[in-house]
Amino acid sequence: MRKVTWISIIIALVAALALAACGGGSSSSSSSGPNPEHGKQLYNSKTLGSASAAGCVTCHNYDATKGDDSKAPFTQGTGTRAASRVPGLTAEQYIRESIMTPNDYVVEKYKAGDMYQNWAKELSKQDIDDLVAYLLTEK
Ligand code: HEC
Repeated sequence: MRKVTWISIIIALVAALALAACGGGSSSSSSSGPNPEHGKQLYNSKTLGSASAAGCVTCHNYDATKGDDSKAPFTQGTGTRAASRVPGLTAEQYIRESIMTPNDYVVEKYKAGDMYQNWAKELSKQDIDDLVAYLLTEK
């Protein structure tokens, strides 16, 4: 009697381990974290989002060799500036806020409403994550 019980416990354990291993494997391959490479592609697209609005680079020039900053702050250095723009916000939080709710903090010399206001509605969460990940790399 005893022997039979132990054997069935061991069989159950082995089966549970095998299931966990398979489940873990498939979930890790299907989950996708932020992708800065894809974010860079999105950022450099002429049009973007469900309403095909004019993309980020139609306002944001990369640096002074590519144009001026009359329409929007330069892209270069965004990841560095973002860390100190708003006390209490990390670079990541600040960049996300700049895209989702741009008027919460308006960079000096620009006006509320200058930045396109509808990205939160027109971009997927994954696209916004990817854009944030890309801009964090622009130190
Ligand atoms: C219509 C022009 C325009 C478009 C299009 C635009 N931006 Fe902006 N953006 C601005 C302006 C103007 C500011 C500065 C004013 C402000 O803070 O809202 C700004 C600010 C920012 C900032 C903060 C920069 C800093 O130095 O603090 C980030 C980050 C940003 N934009 C990201 C994006 C991304 C990502 C996109 C594309 C999904 C985009 N912007 C599209 C005009 C634009």
